[in-house]
Amino acid sequence: MTALPDGVARHDFDGTTSIATRGHPEYGEATDGEWRRWDPNRSKLGAMLALGMDTGLENGQKTLYLGAAAGTTVSHVADFGGPTYAVEFAPRPARDLLDVADHRENLFPLLKDARKPETYAHVVEPVDVVVQDVATRGQARVAALNRRFLDGDGRLLAAVKARSEDVTADPEAVFADVVAELEEHYEVLETEPLDPYHDDHLGVVARPLE
Ligand SMILES: C[S@@+](CC[C@H](N)C(=O)[O-])C[C@H]1O[C@@H](n2cnc3c(N)ncnc32)[C@H](O)[C@@H]1O
Repeated sequence: MTALPDGVARHDFDGTTSIATRGHPEYGEATDGEWRRWDPNRSKLGAMLALGMDTGLENGQKTLYLGAAAGTTVSHVADFGGPTYAVEFAPRPARDLLDVADHRENLFPLLKDARKPETYAHVVEPVDVVVQDVATRGQARVAALNRRFLDGDGRLLAAVKARSEDVTADPEAVFADVVAELEEHYEVLETEPLDPYHDDHLGVVARPLE
């Protein structure tokens, strides 16, 4: 099993072992003392870790998170990470994201469109990790546009949702197309279907091409 980053642990919650971080609870997750369950059914990055993917995540890294929604996953990332920039373009979930950020001084919500990185490039410093969960058509393009924030040794951790690209196509064919497009800008290091946690999603670990 791949090692978890410092600050993420396997923890027992009433007889169920799950990955967990320490921080303020945000979405009704199980807690035990200061530990809060990181529910892989609610979080694609959580599923990637629970499935043992080699994410390269480390404690204290700078992170750009694309598609933060109400902050379920990015709350865990900020619990063990360094400065964490959370991009979300829908105002309604972004309101809840502000509450999550109230409990974390290293979490910076940005009400921005991930397809327009030039609108947040003045705020976001170079990062170690880009996490992407945008559930929109053109997921490879979003990753390509945001490659500029990653240094050479950085990582893209993406959850690709097949049905966001094409509801009628075979998910395997969609994944092949998205990975091929990603490979124009990234070296893809690992891919793994995220079921049983998330059907028709592919977890991708990649590093930017020079
Ligand atoms: C599946 S949800 C994200 C869930 C979240 N990552 C989590 O695990 O807590 C996808 C989110 O991506 C956002 N999104 C889609 N396209 C976007 C874009 N171009 N820019 C910013 N956010 C986008 C949607 O508004 C939605 O909140």
